[in-house]
Amino acid sequence: MRIIKKVEEYRNFLDESKKMQTGFVPTMGALHEGHLSLVRKSKIENELTVVSIFINPRQFNDRTDYEKYPRNTEHDLTLLEENDCDIVFLPETEDIYKGYNGFEMDFKGLDSIYEGKYRPGHFQGVVDIVYRLFDIVKPDNAYFGKKDFQQLAIIKLMVQQANLPINIIPCEIIREPSGLAMSSRNQRLTDEQKEIASNIYKTMLKIKGSVKVGESCDKWINFFEKEINNFAFLKCEYAAFCDPETLKPIYFFEENQGIQLCVAVWCDKIRLIDNIFLQL
Ligand code: PAJ
Repeated sequence: MRIIKKVEEYRNFLDESKKMQTGFVPTMGALHEGHLSLVRKSKIENELTVVSIFINPRQFNDRTDYEKYPRNTEHDLTLLEENDCDIVFLPETEDIYKGYNGFEMDFKGLDSIYEGKYRPGHFQGVVDIVYRLFDIVKPDNAYFGKKDFQQLAIIKLMVQQANLPINIIPCEIIREPSGLAMSSRNQRLTDEQKEIASNIYKTMLKIKGSVKVGESCDKWINFFEKEINNFAFLKCEYAAFCDPETLKPIYFFEENQGIQLCVAVWCDKIRLIDNIFLQL
């Protein structure tokens, strides 16, 4: 496994490795099985797998969240080595953003709903870094988890708008046995809080098993909020039903409709997101 820290070194490496089909997994580190599932998929589907670890300051709208974001590069490198990752790209803020003009994205409203509404500027920050990383790594395939459902939709839109020759590969959400979606931020929860936070998924499953054609989505949004807010530590920030492709809000359940339920819940001071697909 080779570690590359400078953009220039990556550019030189690219000259040598141009012909290899490359899979890319961008991350912010504090790696867990969710990240590693993306790495393993890339290993199967490509000749070369590149993982980047960079805690991108531009996408944090909350300073404390940035400062307290878990950092453990040594352990991350061990996990990547164990999973036969080929290249780890570990850039530094100054170097990665030097001389970078950004990409002017038309978010088509996607940056002002759901996550975008509660985290102003977040998706612009994500686009800034992912566009930059794509320009350096020049992957054929890039792997993103459905855990960050809106991020995935925005990256697909970015690739389309910028006309990049990159396939965006969506990957399933990996969960703890309790059902809690794996997340780097879970490291900041106590064991008790993790157990309680598993009710986010359990409540979504209840909804998935109960909704009926013709019902209003509002009814089930209220149900989710009420159930969640009854648990110690948990406070629902939003729950929304939307079209899985366009992310446009859905107000009523219709026959044969595919719907994504997306939620954000605070567990004490940690903000967790999750989502689930429903087919009526
Ligand atoms: P990070 O939160 O580290 O996640 C990196 C990738 O791992 C994302 O595509 C995310 O959706 C995926 N992932 C996280 N938890 C997962 C889980 N439980 N199951 C499956 N996939 C999971 O997302 C980011 O970093 C950043 O915004 C980034 C794209 C790297 C840009 O800075």
